[in-house]
Amino acid sequence: MLASSRTALRQAATRPLSFRTGVRAVSAWAKVPEGPPLPGITEAYKADRNPEKINLGVGAYRDDRGKPYVLPSVKQAEKKLVEGDLDKEYAAITGGPSFTKAALELAYGPDSAPVKEGRVTITQSISGTGALRIGGAFLERFYPGDKTIYIPTPSWANHAAIFKDSGLKVEKYRYYNKDTIGLDFDGLISDLKSIPKGSIVLLHACAHNPTGVDPTQEQWKKIAEVVKEKEHLPFFDMAYQGFASGDTNKDAFALRHFIQEGLRPLLAQSFAKNMGLYGERVGAFSVVCESAEEKKRVESQIKILIRPLYSNPPIHGARIASEILNDLTLKKQWLDEVRGMANRIITMRALLKENLEKLGSKHDWSHITSQIGMFAYTGLKPEQMEVLAKEHSVYATKDGRISVAGITTGNVKRLAEAIYKVTG
Ligand SMILES: Cc1ncc(COP(=O)(O)O)c(C=O)c1O
Repeated sequence: MLASSRTALRQAATRPLSFRTGVRAVSAWAKVPEGPPLPGITEAYKADRNPEKINLGVGAYRDDRGKPYVLPSVKQAEKKLVEGDLDKEYAAITGGPSFTKAALELAYGPDSAPVKEGRVTITQSISGTGALRIGGAFLERFYPGDKTIYIPTPSWANHAAIFKDSGLKVEKYRYYNKDTIGLDFDGLISDLKSIPKGSIVLLHACAHNPTGVDPTQEQWKKIAEVVKEKEHLPFFDMAYQGFASGDTNKDAFALRHFIQEGLRPLLAQSFAKNMGLYGERVGAFSVVCESAEEKKRVESQIKILIRPLYSNPPIHGARIASEILNDLTLKKQWLDEVRGMANRIITMRALLKENLEKLGSKHDWSHITSQIGMFAYTGLKPEQMEVLAKEHSVYATKDGRISVAGITTGNVKRLAEAIYKVTG
């Protein structure tokens, strides 16, 4: 070997590995800033050694022993699926038609005019989040008006992120009144009237998250009137159908009323809560169109949007939902189970209020029972929530929201005592 090539080899051997292998010396991600932690209180709850600790932060139903609940109707549907020895082929881009047809009927009702006229397009989605995301992307690409979506103050924390990532601008409208711990109806109406004509407005169909404060049916009628008058585009997020009142029809009132009024909403549905299919990610996104011909065009574009996102949706969860919704006996059983979950939550609200009153609390806790759905906005301040966690091992979000699903007959007394001590 020539002396010069020996020297070259020696030099190469002493160079840093990155030079020898052609790997960059500086990582491509060296400048990636660490993002803020995503909201979550499970870590602190897990670290707490108090055997009587209470977790009121989780947005998932728990039974009266505080355990996750798999609905018996879901177990039966799953058993049928396994025994059916089905294949695992890809679904269509918009999912299984037996699922989407049943999802349409559940949301819009069996006598829905636009469904009967074949002018509602629907696609299966990755649960409610995925439905909102497809909706956001569709609006960003095709809405002819201003691409701003108005969401309530406050709203589910993920709404703003989903719509911003979809390329929309996010603005707020008034919704919650801190002083009354109830709906700021005048503020809501006034904002809907003052925002530009033809705005996109996100509405929680029922069981508003995080406040648990819903408009009454009369108030919904007025909201529909203003939305119509101002030619706004309503986008309903219905993540809790059946979970609020225990009745899937009652919880769909707002959506169905808007349609009766001739409005043509967008809808995000989730089966996470009402079927307890959280991790299965079952949902649907639909758009009420003006005609069957328009529906065809819209549907084609929704397919074009979904294809590069995830090609087609997962099959297992949607098969479970479809099995339940398309079998009369199983559907009846499921509706009873939904009512059971909603009633347990309603009972826990009443028990919490009763226990606080028994302790002699001078505060008015009527909002706990007038609010609806999985969450209660207690009106407790961030400092009080901190004391609840530190001194009483009761964990919930700083905004004073508690998941009523985490309350049980076994812990409600201790919880009331803790809230009483913190609020005086
Ligand atoms: C208001 C609201 N919308 C949508 C969702 C979406 O849930 P998922 O994606 O699990 O269906 C949730 C879940 O907590 C919610 O509270």
